[in-house]
Amino acid sequence: MCGIVGYVGPGCASEFLIEGLHRLEYRGYDSAGIAVQNGSEIGVRKRVGRVSELERLLESNPVTGSFGIGHTRWATHGETSDVNSHPHIGGNGEVVIVHNGVIENYAKLRGQLQTLGYVFRTTTDSEIIAHMICHQWYELVKLGHDPELAETCQTAVERALVTFKGTYGIVAMFREAPGVLIAARVGSPLVIGVGRNEYFLASDASPLVGHTDEVVYLSDNEIAVITTESMELHHRDTGRLEPSIQTLQQESSDTDLGDFDHYMLKEIFEQPEAIENCLRGRIDDDSATAMFGGLNLDPMQLRKIDRIVLTACGTSWHAGLVGEYLLEEFARIPTEVEYASELRYRNPPMTESTMVFAITQSGETADTLAALRECKRKGHQTLAICNVVGSTIAREADGGIYLHAGPEIGVASTKAFTSQVTALILLSLYFGRMRHLSYHAGKRMIRQLRDMPDVIRRTLQCHDAVKEVADRYCNYENFLYLGRLYNFPVALEGALKLKEISYIHAEGYPAAEMKHGPIALVDENTPSVFIVPRGGIYPKVMSNLEEIKARRGPVIAIACEGDDQISELADEVIFVPEVEDFLQPLVTSIPLQILSYHIALQRGCNVDRPRNLAKSVTVE
Ligand code: M6R
Repeated sequence: MCGIVGYVGPGCASEFLIEGLHRLEYRGYDSAGIAVQNGSEIGVRKRVGRVSELERLLESNPVTGSFGIGHTRWATHGETSDVNSHPHIGGNGEVVIVHNGVIENYAKLRGQLQTLGYVFRTTTDSEIIAHMICHQWYELVKLGHDPELAETCQTAVERALVTFKGTYGIVAMFREAPGVLIAARVGSPLVIGVGRNEYFLASDASPLVGHTDEVVYLSDNEIAVITTESMELHHRDTGRLEPSIQTLQQESSDTDLGDFDHYMLKEIFEQPEAIENCLRGRIDDDSATAMFGGLNLDPMQLRKIDRIVLTACGTSWHAGLVGEYLLEEFARIPTEVEYASELRYRNPPMTESTMVFAITQSGETADTLAALRECKRKGHQTLAICNVVGSTIAREADGGIYLHAGPEIGVASTKAFTSQVTALILLSLYFGRMRHLSYHAGKRMIRQLRDMPDVIRRTLQCHDAVKEVADRYCNYENFLYLGRLYNFPVALEGALKLKEISYIHAEGYPAAEMKHGPIALVDENTPSVFIVPRGGIYPKVMSNLEEIKARRGPVIAIACEGDDQISELADEVIFVPEVEDFLQPLVTSIPLQILSYHIALQRGCNVDRPRNLAKSVTVE
């Protein structure tokens, strides 16, 4: 979380910084700030609230100059306030920094720096970075180093970094060295855009789109020294590196809202194309299987896999649960789904032939990255199902599958979920065809998968009906979401969507398990959203629904077109196209996304930027 931007060049720094902060606002929006250098002065402006608040401040109190840094904050240490906003000032203004991450030993370092006379103005962990870099810089200057040299600034940052425990993406600027930016990372992403006589810095590539398509992704323990003339990369242990410049494949139109009021709704409606893109080039009709360009494992290695661990957080974890059902049903490979935040510290027994798949939209989630690294360290093959090209997890995994869903900006994940499920269906087909799945079964799966973009287009036609239901139910304070088999993870996902953007308490549960406890919650004020498409266990789910009705619980059912029976029982029915069980999550999750969107809107919530959340959780 937290978004960082930086600029060095001939242009107007604040213009790029503000535009970049708007594009990064999804990473945190508690406060925003920029620092811009003009001659020997660094002007710092920061304000609690959205980037638009900062813009208002800049109208009355502008900063001019062509070097600068900016930050949009998702608070971890210290309340959200003007003073706690970034950039932070070190010493007497000699150093100014922005930081993404957490410095775990900040309390100890703060004490040490206070003893040395440094005055702390904030209650954040980040301020110690500014003072520590400043302190190291003073020491170097005392030893005779030239205060204006980029090399002195670099050494000061390197010496400070040694004292930090935790994670960081940092960019520092120095009053005595105008035009020098020093960027460093451990655990928090940073990407450098290489322009013509100018350099851009950001937490992800989105602010660079339209400015340059040449980018360098900083890896852990690397430092970038950026000046008006050049950009150098150094590794903590191995010294100077040759930057690997990559081409950015993102269009500015990818992040436009178009005719939609919110990114969430836009992304919900992008799902047919997202699924098409995920399927493109991945179906081998002749062999009735899937194919992947990036797994980086040969068929012999893949055949030896005897267990799969899927690890993820949040919505991606829910996609993982669908993946477990798919891989066990079609590939017959024992599969487990682990919360990445647990797996990183657990020590579950894993065989030599266990393969680990990290599932992540952003590719930057700190817990998922840590779990992946832990498994890699133990010698397991690690693969990633990831949306953001060039993200840390995509780069660190041994191989993987890109979703190609396009940028997902809304904090509530929608198209990433259905794309992840699509990738997992392809994967289970692929592994299945290597093992027990017949040619004809493979062919049948492919036929059905190919229909899915159109099926989803039809599903989206439920929008107006769902909106009406949302209007009627938006004032309830508790919801249950119930489904079985492939629709159990969908129930969890539906409940998460409602919670995160409308702040209504919602619980997802396996429909039959509900009678072992949560049924006590059922009364006329607790609606149950039942996912009850026709299929394998339709009659069983209907019995569970009867149990709720018998206790006067209102029922909103997600059911198949043409199901007459359901209308007699449920208070509301939202009809979706009928598909085979294993494809149901792609269909049934869509009305739930729309339901939460409209309930949140009715309640006046900011659907794209819900309180307390950020799109990319890069802290533990
Ligand atoms: O980028 P990731 O897929 O790794 O993110 C994981 C979760 O933080 C994310 O899915 C989160 O739960 C979403 N806000 C849910 O809508």
